[in-house]
Amino acid sequence: MTDRTHPPDADLVSERVGRLTTDALVTRRGYLKILGVLSGGLAVGNVAVALGAFERRTEGADQEQLITTDLAAIPVGGELRFSYPTDNDPAVLLRLEDDLFVAYSAVCTHLACEVLWVADDRDLFCPCHDGHFDPIDGSPTAGPPQRPLPEIVLERRGETIVAIGEGRVREGED
Ligand code: FES
Repeated sequence: MTDRTHPPDADLVSERVGRLTTDALVTRRGYLKILGVLSGGLAVGNVAVALGAFERRTEGADQEQLITTDLAAIPVGGELRFSYPTDNDPAVLLRLEDDLFVAYSAVCTHLACEVLWVADDRDLFCPCHDGHFDPIDGSPTAGPPQRPLPEIVLERRGETIVAIGEGRVREGED
């Protein structure tokens, strides 16, 4: 049991305080080192992800891709699902009027769920958080999405439609 009647030895107290101070410095230094390593790792990771996303977004963005050779198979108000610019990029072609075709990335600009075409409501709908987009220009009309769906450039060649980049249907040579 500790004898509490005598004041502690001053040298002992001084030595213990010194050790505690040294330990605290080491701990603080170690903590800062860990923070530095984590911050550096996060920064490198963010740059890598950004570069990867940019590469994916631009990869094949201007490439020509046949969407359909049979426009008659798509009724007014109908849709055709496809992928563009890569097989991992879902997209949707809509026939809004007899001669009006539009196409968008089908990836919701909120948290990347796939949007659905609700023909009766003429609405591009994201079921994840009740997001809605205007089929005319892909702009968000309700729910959490703030950015429009990326539009895909289409070129019509008779009964054929080809994706060529971004925008609306342009009449091409037959
Ligand atoms: S992911 Fe589409 S509304 Fe949230």
